[in-house]
Amino acid sequence: THVVTEACIRCKYTDCVDVCPVDCFREGPNFLVIDPDECIDCAVCIPECPASAILPEEDVPASQQEYIKLNADLAAKWPSITKRKPALADADEWKNRTGKRSELIE
Ligand code: F3S
Repeated sequence: THVVTEACIRCKYTDCVDVCPVDCFREGPNFLVIDPDECIDCAVCIPECPASAILPEEDVPASQQEYIKLNADLAAKWPSITKRKPALADADEWKNRTGKRSELIE
């Protein structure tokens, strides 16, 4: 599967959802996740993300391993998103920050 990692938090650009052929993105208040049961590993979303937040599971770094389970867990409770929408208002300010885990609204 592919995994949305920390870089998406407080950005949520949503460019990724427009290209997903299987509609596997799920939307929370300030983060998206990929439903691992739906993702077909096509990878077309990767270059679409301005924050470079999406990675193949095997490339998720040690520091971000918790996002693998977070994607699975949150996908089970968040609604589907299939159409791009405006990014969060201060997305550009948050795009290059790290240490955003505590900002995630579940
Ligand atoms: Fe998030 Fe990037 Fe999609 S910031 S909403 S994973 S385009």
